[in-house]
Amino acid sequence: MKVFISRIIPQEGIAILQNAGLELTQYSGKTNIPQDELINICKQHDMLLSVGSNKIDSRFLHACKHLKGIALMSAGYDNVDITTATSLGIPVSNTPNVLSKATSDVAFLLMLAVSRNAFYMYETINKKEWGFFDPTANLGIELYNKTLGVFGLGNIGTELAIKCKAAYNMTVIYHNRNRNESAEKMLGARYVSFDELLAQSDVLSVHANLSDETREIFNKAAFLKMKDSAVFINTARGGLHNEQDLTEALALKKIWGAGLDVTNPEPMQPGNPLLNMCNVCVLPHIGSATVETRANMAITAANNIIALMHGKAMPQVINKQVYVIDK
Ligand code: DGY
Repeated sequence: MKVFISRIIPQEGIAILQNAGLELTQYSGKTNIPQDELINICKQHDMLLSVGSNKIDSRFLHACKHLKGIALMSAGYDNVDITTATSLGIPVSNTPNVLSKATSDVAFLLMLAVSRNAFYMYETINKKEWGFFDPTANLGIELYNKTLGVFGLGNIGTELAIKCKAAYNMTVIYHNRNRNESAEKMLGARYVSFDELLAQSDVLSVHANLSDETREIFNKAAFLKMKDSAVFINTARGGLHNEQDLTEALALKKIWGAGLDVTNPEPMQPGNPLLNMCNVCVLPHIGSATVETRANMAITAANNIIALMHGKAMPQVINKQVYVIDK
């Protein structure tokens, strides 16, 4: 059986697939494969291991409905039309859990960096602005005993909340579609409405999936409801915030600062006004980028392909319904 892998992935995943006797083709280009090319290649393969933001939309899925399944090497699946995949009986899996610690580390890093204007302060050294000591300048804010608000308290949000509680004794509030009772028990996390989350958070960290319901939910109206001392962190998907509204809220000091590992659009272009703001820290979508986590993501995706090969349900399938409907 033939597997197409849309980027070079860690060897740990490749080894699993090769040892199982699968025939692999790996794309080595440095950009997303144009969709027509992806369709043509996938027509010659049985399974797709998809990395990055390949558009797996209705057009692709209808053209490639022969695929036995699609294993994503990501937790996010906003690039996939899951409804169409399900209607065509194509199982799609992702790599949840294995990246929770690494991604929450980046949220924590950004929270701390923003609270002390760290990226901007670093730049002042190159600009020869480190000289005179002014006790009223370069002041950050402290995080001790503050309130962490989590939008989307799943695995990553919970990992962040654990760290924030341990390091700063932060109170945890959250807003989700469904209550997270285990986090409520473990962390004393309190469920609040979206408006309460906006009004009460000192640090508001976003960990929800991007969907029609959540697209640009952090917009002008939302930023205006936040404390002017609040820090906004997004390590989930840039599409969850409206970038122009965020820029305006920061420029007008409607919120205190922002830390972004994801931008809207991606990649962020050099010269973006956010990059020159002292209260903003931006990283180029590196949440899961550690040696250990990327290896585990590759292993998880490979094991989902192996399950397909054996005609079994993929362990991390997103659209479980495919296994109960007739093809
Ligand atoms: C994920 O796994 O969703 C990360 O954001 C990488 O795309």
